[in-house]
Amino acid sequence: MGYVVREEWHEHYADGKDFRPLGDTERALLAEHAPVPDGGGRALDVGCGTGGLAVHLSSLGYVVDAVDFADSAIGRARAEHTDVEGVRWLRLDIERDDPVELHPDGYDLVTLRLAYPFLRDRSRVLHALGERLRRGGALVVITPTAELTSKERRSIALDEGEISLLTAGWEQAERLDADGLAVVVLRGPGHTVSAAVE
Ligand SMILES: C[S@@+](CC[C@H](N)C(=O)[O-])C[C@H]1O[C@@H](n2cnc3c(N)ncnc32)[C@H](O)[C@@H]1O
Repeated sequence: MGYVVREEWHEHYADGKDFRPLGDTERALLAEHAPVPDGGGRALDVGCGTGGLAVHLSSLGYVVDAVDFADSAIGRARAEHTDVEGVRWLRLDIERDDPVELHPDGYDLVTLRLAYPFLRDRSRVLHALGERLRRGGALVVITPTAELTSKERRSIALDEGEISLLTAGWEQAERLDADGLAVVVLRGPGHTVSAAVE
């Protein structure tokens, strides 16, 4: 699997396929390391697919913006979670589109689950997302590691060097494990806004 274009993601979801469902360990780690702030919190899930994580974050009490650039992902997420309130499904290319629809006051939690390795310009996107974090907020990347991924599927994973790059420049970076997935929790005033972002 090399670079994946938007149409391929679209076909994947249009064919009724999904990805590894959110696991119990991931749920437990999110509850422990990214609890909803007192008084409520807002989360952004980037590359949300059909919305399993976004719906889970909503069940924890977050108000969620969930974005994906594949039409069929957002279409299915809307259709499959009609009973869920508190998630706004947005069709958006996080690398290329005008982010005007994202919340101007930023987020307490930004998540990228099984999505970060697919970005073309990872550090630019990470920096831009970090600037959307509210004070005390966390950016959580959940990803396969190269060590536990077959050579053919290497591009869906991060190796140790790529994980080090991901954590560089943050005040706090915690690396956790969820049944073989790396869960990287990043925080830091260097990337934190207190209120509105441009
Ligand atoms: C492997 S899937 C993971 C989906 C979901 N997070 C999950 O855990 O099941 C990666 C997702 O990232 C989305 N994606 C990739 N590049 C994107 C971009 N530039 N902007 C928005 N979504 C993107 C794809 O459409 C796809 O839904």
